Amino acid sequence: MAARCLLHVIVALALAQPALSAGGGTESLTEWLRAQAGSQWERVVNHRFTHELAHNRMDNATLRTYLVQDHRFIDDFSALLAAMLAAVPTLDDRVLGAHFLALITSKENTYFVRSLRALRVSEVAEAAVPDAPIVTRFKLLMRSAAASQKLEQMLAVLVAAEWSYETWGERAAAERAAELPFYCSEWIDLHAGPYFNSVVAYLRGLLDRLGATLNETERSEVRALFLEAVDCEEKFFEHAYLAPYDGKLSPVTIDPEAETQLVDNKHEL
Ligand SMILES: *[C@@H]1O[C@H](CO)[C@@H](O)[C@H](O)[C@H]1NC(C)=O
Ligand SMILES: *[C@@H]1O[C@H](CO)[C@@H](O)[C@H](O)[C@H]1NC(C)=O
Repeated sequence: MAARCLLHVIVALALAQPALSAGGGTESLTEWLRAQAGSQWERVVNHRFTHELAHNRMDNATLRTYLVQDHRFIDDFSALLAAMLAAVPTLDDRVLGAHFLALITSKENTYFVRSLRALRVSEVAEAAVPDAPIVTRFKLLMRSAAASQKLEQMLAVLVAAEWSYETWGERAAAERAAELPFYCSEWIDLHAGPYFNSVVAYLRGLLDRLGATLNETERSEVRALFLEAVDCEEKFFEHAYLAPYDGKLSPVTIDPEAETQLVDNKHEL
């Protein structure tokens, strides 16, 4: 119910704005959306978090907060991706996304668990941290998009999240320090390289394909959800610095077997 309520607010705000049109000519819908986000897009993809991660300058307490909170998205993000997979018209449209859903719920989920244990946040300590307000807001956006039954709205949120991460991920992969702890290097690896590029191209392709069929109202709704997601991304990075983890630290309990297994499987999916 809360999700539907939020969606109505976002859409009402969108409709209160003057009529918008995608710039003339050949600009795709996703390019237009990114341009609409303006300097905020640049702030997200160049956030100091992404530079510190790549250059081994990340403060442990900041990273703990980020990882504890980001782990909270897996559930609603998976549900949104699954809703999108149910809404696309053909099996061809489903295959790559289904594969990506499997990665999110296996390798990416395990990454959080292993990293937090290595950073000495126990499972109990992790669970004791409440959701940050920005996490609650972002989760509501994911849930409201999933509940909208509108494919373009689901894709707007997915594209904003994954395309912005790919943009900084590619830069971070190119400039990263030689020796990074796995909890830094793997977070970059998960958002760079040919596989992740193909995921983002797939998501953007689905949304761009819909672009020509949307009327003005639908386009405004898509824009509102995309901009809300970009705003959430920036506030999410900021939150890690505003509230560095000050919880209890446990001994390192990482299971080296689990890490080996993950590294072995890295390029299978
Ligand atoms: C950050 O955490 C890692 C892993 O537990 C540890 O090896 C490192 O010494 C910590 N860095 C600082 C500055 O405490
Ligand atoms: C836009 O399309 C939607 C869905 O087909 C429809 O419900 C709505 O009435 C249309 N709006 C306008 C202004 O044409």
